[in-house]
Amino acid sequence: MNRVAVMVGGRGRGSNLRALVAEFNGDASVSVVSVIATASDSPALEWAEGQNLRTAAIPPRPSETYASRLLEHLHGVEWICLAGYLNLLPPEVLAAFPGRILNIHPALLPKFGGKGMYGLHVHSAVLAANETVSGCTVHYVSEVYDEGEVLAQATCPVMKTDTPETLAARVLRLEHLLYPEAVRFAIERARA
Ligand code: GRF
Repeated sequence: MNRVAVMVGGRGRGSNLRALVAEFNGDASVSVVSVIATASDSPALEWAEGQNLRTAAIPPRPSETYASRLLEHLHGVEWICLAGYLNLLPPEVLAAFPGRILNIHPALLPKFGGKGMYGLHVHSAVLAANETVSGCTVHYVSEVYDEGEVLAQATCPVMKTDTPETLAARVLRLEHLLYPEAVRFAIERARA
């Protein structure tokens, strides 16, 4: 069994979390078992509590205990999926899960990534650059924002009439399809 922890942000809606749980839970080989958020009032965490998933609110401060608290909660987990988690992971966590931490980003990396490129900032930048195609990327997580190896991408058109919000909604629907498939692919690759 490949046990997955999903890490979400303090204000995370958790729609990717729900897509991963819907795809995997009940599956014989992959299961989301645990959810970590940076704040206890994260809507995604509240949803996870109602699903019998192991949950934890682990704020990145104080930084001296951040890594050990994360590692304690990640015990028994083989994979980590970041979904709206905006903090860099401590080196101890990266070292404990080599090639087993994934993130989803709402644009076609390497474009429109890096610090500050999250939420509507990403889609506004895509529109400002007059891109005609956008999409989402699942990549391995490294010590630099949005720079790990790309695992999978899905694309969608950018319409002339798009606002950041309409583009975000179109990309989000793709994210929900791509992320579970990419997780299966990463697991298969790691076994090969
Ligand atoms: C998604 O757009 C994802 O690409 C980004 O953060 C957002 C999380 O949304 N990393 P949700 O909480 O999964 O709905």
